[in-house]
Amino acid sequence: MKADARGTTASSAKTKGSASRPKNNERFRERLARHHDELRWLYMELYDNGDMFAELCEQLRAFFDARPADLKQLDAEREAEGAWYRKRDMLGMQMYIDNFAGTIKGVEEHLDYLKRCHVNYVHLMPFLDTPADKSRSDGGYAVADFRRVRPDLGTMDDLAHLARTCHAQGISLCMDFVMNHTSEDHEWARRARAGEGEYMSRYFFERNQAVIDQYTRDVPQVFPTTAPGHYTYLPELGQSVMTQFYPYQWDLNYRNPRVFNEMMYNFLYLANQGMDIIRIDAVPYIWKELGTNCRNLPQVHTIVRMMRMIGEIVCPGIVLLGEVVMEPKEVAPYFGTPEKPECHMLYNVTTMATTWHTVATRDTRLLRRQMEAVCALPRTYTFLNYLRCHDDIGWGLDYPTLSAWGMEEVPHKKYLNDYFLGIVAGSDSRGALYNDDPTTGDARFCGTTASMCGVEAAGFEGDDDKLAWALQKDIMLHAYLLTQSGLPIIYSGDEVGQVNDYSYRDDPERADDSRYIHRGKFPWELVDAIDDADSVPHRLFEALSDLEDIRREEPVFGAEATVRVCDAADPALLWIERTLGEEVLVAVFNFSDEGKTVTLPAAPAYTDLVTGVTEAVETVDMCGWDFMWMKRA
Ligand code: GLC
Repeated sequence: MKADARGTTASSAKTKGSASRPKNNERFRERLARHHDELRWLYMELYDNGDMFAELCEQLRAFFDARPADLKQLDAEREAEGAWYRKRDMLGMQMYIDNFAGTIKGVEEHLDYLKRCHVNYVHLMPFLDTPADKSRSDGGYAVADFRRVRPDLGTMDDLAHLARTCHAQGISLCMDFVMNHTSEDHEWARRARAGEGEYMSRYFFERNQAVIDQYTRDVPQVFPTTAPGHYTYLPELGQSVMTQFYPYQWDLNYRNPRVFNEMMYNFLYLANQGMDIIRIDAVPYIWKELGTNCRNLPQVHTIVRMMRMIGEIVCPGIVLLGEVVMEPKEVAPYFGTPEKPECHMLYNVTTMATTWHTVATRDTRLLRRQMEAVCALPRTYTFLNYLRCHDDIGWGLDYPTLSAWGMEEVPHKKYLNDYFLGIVAGSDSRGALYNDDPTTGDARFCGTTASMCGVEAAGFEGDDDKLAWALQKDIMLHAYLLTQSGLPIIYSGDEVGQVNDYSYRDDPERADDSRYIHRGKFPWELVDAIDDADSVPHRLFEALSDLEDIRREEPVFGAEATVRVCDAADPALLWIERTLGEEVLVAVFNFSDEGKTVTLPAAPAYTDLVTGVTEAVETVDMCGWDFMWMKRA
């Protein structure tokens, strides 16, 4: 079986003989011994099923044996090195394989471009088999087969080959592991739909309307407009199946140990293809309990903790990245505790949303509070920072605080959306609403960074002045992104100023999902223009490139630095200080159109990291949307 070359399946676990067998044996036994008692305890607490636990342990062994030697070597190096993903030279990029390069092989052919972008972490957006009809695939988040690559993108062998090539060049790969649901086309769902009890028990089937009604009452909607409701009626069975996301995404039932075991085998299979970072999609939703809001339940943490231990036993080099798009108090618990860690890394989602709120209000007060909250967390917590990703921006802000400042939730969300639609005077942003829910007054927002900063409007109007402002804002936001501790991720295309793509509106399969506005084909013609000194791609790409160089070279950007958000008197200014030993960086960001004069803390001299000039300086004049990185000399 070719596709199994770097993995194994539950039914065909093969053990490879090798000279290093005794050492390997010992390594596996030692790792299993380290976690066995806790793993067993948690498993039995959830499932009380010794046979299934024994099967799980056997399979861990089989996946360990099947793990290619080069990956085992990488595991050993990473174990010795410690948190490898926290190094300040890490720079990520998130991309769609088809948009960027057509196929997996195409991505491999374009690694030189990624290196030119300084990227050493690539998040390949969902590439596993999914319905070809885009209106049933949720951008690949409806997985039809966890062990097969979407045929138009390539094969599992292509993926393993890409991983090997990337590793040789110091690049790591991230992929999505969609745990909460499968596509209705997945074999389990097809067999469940055919009435096979064994497979029906892997999902949530319901005949009782009272139960369905209670879920509707207690559980918030994920896609209130595009996919309302939590259940989908299947006439052929005369019952409904739980579908919290889209009707074609059936929620998996993790009360069934078969589901947990099989999904762990899928996870290990993908890890054995050479994936370095596993993004656990929509993880807060994976456990359901009638009478609760079905989010962040304790059993979710038990499952993530077990997954962490399973990873540490079989493939300790890999990183679990949790997608927890929740209010801040629900996010940090997904790191677990120092003794019982869960995810290695989490999305800094509230900071991202608060950043765009700050762009629209020119008032940094909320962003300061948010950043202070992040800075108060243990420094070992690693966040993934980003300006834009493939999803909409949900306005999950701290409304109690905002309302104390006179910004009420519903009108404020409307203001933010109007601002980014470009309706508000003074805004040059462009984009589209997402899941505009008239009953709650809630809507989210979609658009690329460049379009939201005004590059699209300025280009359309041929207004050079406007364009200069838009680029200034775009560069400043990236500088601010790179100032934060953690892993910065660039959304592919942002480095060259890719603007919104409106073609989804003419495609019936995508028209209902405005997230496609920022999922356009990668504009290679803009890459060609990087060398043209007057072009937008040149101005943006070179500026970002310089900032990335600085971050890589200056230890003060490291994860070990102390970060403090200072109370600048002017609400338009965000003032961050990073300290590492003797080194102090003063980073100031002007979130307004007006010029500002900033007085630096007294010091004999400062080095402006952007210009490289060291001199005695007391005050700095900043133009609108300007920033500075001044290091105490
Ligand atoms: C995650 C993805 C999103 C997808 C959802 C359902 O939130 O980021 O794109 O729609 O999961 O799988």
